[in-house]
Amino acid sequence: MAVIFVPKETEPGETRVAAIPETVKGMLKAGLKVQVERGAGLAAGFADADFASAGAELVDASARGQADLVLGIQTPNVEQCRAQKSGSILISSLTPTSRLSQVKALRDAKVSAMALELMPRITRAQKMDILSSQATVAGYQAVLLAAATLPKMFPLLMTAAGTITPARVLVLGAGVAGLQAISTARRLGAVVEANDIRPACKEQVESLGGKFVDTGAPPDAETKGGYAKETTAEFLRKQREILTSHITQADVLITTALVPGRKAPVLVTADMRKGMKPGSVIVDMAAGQGGNVEGSVSGQRVVVDGVTILGDTNLPAQCANDSSRMFARNVLAFLGEFVKNGQPNVDIKAEILAAVTVTHDGQVCHEATAQALAANPG
Ligand code: NAI
Repeated sequence: MAVIFVPKETEPGETRVAAIPETVKGMLKAGLKVQVERGAGLAAGFADADFASAGAELVDASARGQADLVLGIQTPNVEQCRAQKSGSILISSLTPTSRLSQVKALRDAKVSAMALELMPRITRAQKMDILSSQATVAGYQAVLLAAATLPKMFPLLMTAAGTITPARVLVLGAGVAGLQAISTARRLGAVVEANDIRPACKEQVESLGGKFVDTGAPPDAETKGGYAKETTAEFLRKQREILTSHITQADVLITTALVPGRKAPVLVTADMRKGMKPGSVIVDMAAGQGGNVEGSVSGQRVVVDGVTILGDTNLPAQCANDSSRMFARNVLAFLGEFVKNGQPNVDIKAEILAAVTVTHDGQVCHEATAQALAANPG
């Protein structure tokens, strides 16, 4: 019977946990023995006693070294990677191209490391897709942060003290996070506008009660997988020109625009931001990837010309109970791909495993990571 270990996350500010009592039961049903580090779920609202009554054994951090499978939310540090036994499996987010020391440690320790954020965006893998589940929570949380920071209420109110006009929210980038931001802001009563460069977004924004700000779509706007491509400088210039008046009117600006493998596009220059009213709030959800807004600082709250710019990089950790619940369910669904009768069987040629496996049997098998390593062999 293979043993699966659920650690307490050690990255500062990380409050989520990769398994919850419900998924512990699922893992037991799959034939695994489940070990949970004491206190692993506490910050997310899951007590040790709940894990124990679901059937997990409570252990300390050293159990990582004996486990056959190890789960995680954040990329483990080098020491944690080295601690895993040869032939064991790591299932976590890994951002491997920028964590080469960890990749080397995992390769040398002969760990099969599976990066959940590399999950292919195909219908069958939707239930295993941590990017979608965590972006959903992040989009929701971004709106709540903005609402709590804005010195205005979101809804239209007609009271004996007169009329309060609704807040105006502009969302740039209407992917998973952006669409959730739109629907959350609408539920709070704001007037919402949104923009994206993928043509399919217009209908999605409108179906949520938002108004689509049409800046046109570049020819060949998206990849086969549905992701946006980088636009030309000329397209970006025109897009900014159209967006400027909408930004000036907005009380809240939420930016989520990302292009996989590239720095986030700067959609809002310092000049465009200067037109915003004092007291307005920007949540730059792309701050960790270079930022959509000039002046945003990754991980920080700054106030420039009276406008508060929030650059929080781990919004799902601020809503850790439900983000852990969703992450843990994604993990359980993924385990179902290759754990049969309590034993993992890693066939790295199978479609989903081929996409997510970064190291296996002493080799780096993820193309982009292998290239990054070749360019930085030290
Ligand atoms: P993302 O996080 O990579 O980007 C966020 C949004 O930014 C995207 O909508 C993108 O079009 C937009 N964007 C990029 N550059 C922009 C620019 N210059 N101006 C304005 N907007 C810009 O995207 P996310 O949320 O991960 O979703 C990407 C696609 O994947 C979507 O089509 C989504 O429907 C699809 N998807 C498919 C899934 C599946 O089939 N399993 C699961 C989840 C998403």
